[in-house]
Amino acid sequence: MIVKGEFPATRMRRMRRDDFSRRLMRESVLTPADFIWPVFVLEGKNRVEQVASMPGVERMSLDRLLPVAEKALKLGIPALALFPVIGKEKKSPGAEEAWNPKGLVPTVVAKLKREFPELGIITDVALDPYTSHGQDGLIDPKDPGGYVMNDETIEALVKQALTHARAGADVVAPSDMMDGRIGAIRQALDAKKFIHTRILAYSAKYASSFYGPFRDAVGSAGNLGKGDKFTYQMDPANSDEAVREVALDLQEGADMVMVKPGMPYLDIVRRVKDAFGVPTFAYQVSGEYAMLKVAAANGWLVHDAVMMESLLCCKRAGADGILTYFALEAAELLRK
Ligand code: PBG
Repeated sequence: MIVKGEFPATRMRRMRRDDFSRRLMRESVLTPADFIWPVFVLEGKNRVEQVASMPGVERMSLDRLLPVAEKALKLGIPALALFPVIGKEKKSPGAEEAWNPKGLVPTVVAKLKREFPELGIITDVALDPYTSHGQDGLIDPKDPGGYVMNDETIEALVKQALTHARAGADVVAPSDMMDGRIGAIRQALDAKKFIHTRILAYSAKYASSFYGPFRDAVGSAGNLGKGDKFTYQMDPANSDEAVREVALDLQEGADMVMVKPGMPYLDIVRRVKDAFGVPTFAYQVSGEYAMLKVAAANGWLVHDAVMMESLLCCKRAGADGILTYFALEAAELLRK
């Protein structure tokens, strides 16, 4: 970069002096249209539960979700991402509940699309809410190490994605990190004439320790126990590998790609955006949310300021949108 000008002719603080000139040169802005709101859905009726490790986040049954979904829509939030909390008795080693057409997710999707057709509905494609062992895929019964099988899992994910598409999901979002699942899901959707169903690929999903509160929220932590996801999610040490993952998912038919987690991985967001220039999303995950909430609750951070800064930084890094548990609060603040 050629640096023009020298002090005192150049004074960087001149443009920062007043609000008007700060606003004029601002490069990134946040709007409610940048947010995807992840919500935890419960079976049954009239149920609301607080998620202890995520202050302000509630799991809700469908009837209680409807008014909040409407609120999100009215605030200008484009889409919700659904995460189901499945009763223990419905979990199994084969995760069959994941493609039950009368299951929780298809029921919720159908109702939301009927009530609020303009609200985008994104579904999570992965088996962890449904497996008795809490892994995102099917475990090889012959492997003492409990290896998560790739190709067998893909067959299950395809069934799950088709069930979601049939129920009316606008976007299916595979978060499982199996190889080849985007291509298989795209082919299956096309074969069944779901040509409009978008795929948001969790392309660069890291084996992160920032997912802890989420696993509490969906109740998979207990099932997973001491298990880990290192054989399919990415090593936090890697960056080139993320670019390859994104390239493959795009080739296989992804419409949007995601980097997850968000704030600790903004270098990856920037690389992906620069390399491909495609719709790119960052997931500000449960652990990031919990850290900011708990520090703010203690008075160590200023809540609204850190919330907005953390989201704005995702955009500055190149994200077109952010999955965030702050979506409702941030959108409300922006509307003020
Ligand atoms: C699992 C899934 C996870 C998250 C979204 N989908 C957790 C995991 O991989 O164990 C994490 C989201 C968050 O932490 O907010 N398919």
